[in-house]
Amino acid sequence: MKNTVTFIGLMSGTSIDSIDAVAVTFAHKKLNLLGNYSHSIPAKIKSDILTLSEPGLDNVQLLAETDHSLGELFAEASLALMSQLNLNSKDIVAIGSHGQTIRHQPPGIKPGFSLQIGNPNQIAAVTGCPVIADFRRKDMAYGGQGAPLVPAFHREIFHHPSKTRVIINIGGISNISILEPNGGCRGFDTGPGNILLDAWCQKHTHKNYDNKGQWGATGSHNVALLTQLKSHNFFHRTGPKSTGREDFNLGWLEQQTHLLDITPADIQATLALYTADTIAQSIADLAQPIDEIFVCGGGIFNLELILKLNESLLKRTMPAIQSTASIGLEPNWVEACAFAWLAKQRIDMKPGNVPAVTGASRETILGCVYLP
Ligand SMILES: Nc1ncnc2c1ncn2[C@@H]1O[C@H](COP(=O)(O)OP(=O)(O)OP(=O)(O)O)[C@@H](O)[C@H]1O
Ligand SMILES: [Mg+2]
Repeated sequence: MKNTVTFIGLMSGTSIDSIDAVAVTFAHKKLNLLGNYSHSIPAKIKSDILTLSEPGLDNVQLLAETDHSLGELFAEASLALMSQLNLNSKDIVAIGSHGQTIRHQPPGIKPGFSLQIGNPNQIAAVTGCPVIADFRRKDMAYGGQGAPLVPAFHREIFHHPSKTRVIINIGGISNISILEPNGGCRGFDTGPGNILLDAWCQKHTHKNYDNKGQWGATGSHNVALLTQLKSHNFFHRTGPKSTGREDFNLGWLEQQTHLLDITPADIQATLALYTADTIAQSIADLAQPIDEIFVCGGGIFNLELILKLNESLLKRTMPAIQSTASIGLEPNWVEACAFAWLAKQRIDMKPGNVPAVTGASRETILGCVYLP
């Protein structure tokens, strides 16, 4: 293992479920996943992140303190992974740390910005490794959405020379990448992934998520509510587009449901169909032949969601989904690997964004370097 060129990727997504850490090597466009590690996020930090994510409740002191706590946590996750794999700082070229998004405002009437916290200086100081962070803001400086950033990585490792592939990442938010045989790459956020399913499940069952979608499977979807949820402004926007907790959150969902006489389980069933249907519709709207569809992200473990996604795709005469495991990468580690790769792109001085995806005016090198 020693003497190989290794990168670490750290990802903590919108779901705030855990910090995912991977160690990978890259050779000839092939990625080798050396190991992975999942670091839990203490309840207090999770609750602080949720507070910081709520527009209107701005608190600079809490922001700075949580930036610090998360910096420590990301460093701990890196050290745990390094110890698990018997790697030391000299073995690691760089750690790519996405950070925790607490606010994402795509460019529009107001200026665009995207704020990720988890002090990279601390990660560098504690691990002794260079850290690359702040991946989104350069793309936004060139007028882009700063999101999604994973399509470039999907193209790098999942591109097929004769098939058009779609990769669906079902994290808190769902995003898709369209990978064409000629190297063409598009992509955008499709709307909610697990975010509403998790929020509703936490409110009514006090569990972090609806394990395998079993609770939702006991309910029946409500057609009127489904139609109402689909009228969200986000679905009227054309790409490039990105979204986050600002658009889809428990408060919004409660507003949509509080006057309705529908059981919580039926609402959960409706949310599963809503999530599945809006993803399938985004792919259908591309109006182009798709050969294969692969799914990554934690949503793949919600069997009810996946069942409904396959039904929604079939209804629109599109192929059934497969796991990215069938093309070489376990679905729960794809995002973290993407940030290891983006760190490599930064070190190699190569662009990390795809202007056709983010809407930026040009390709550009993403991320800042924090030396130990
Ligand atoms: N066994 C399971 N049953 C149902 N859902 C699951 C299961 N395991 C994971 N999940 C879902 O996956 C989510 C975590 O997925 P993931 O880590 O890909 O999202 P994320 O951290 O928000 O990433 P992103 O950056 O893509 O938004 C959990 O919050 C949960 O909703
Ligand atoms: Mg996660």
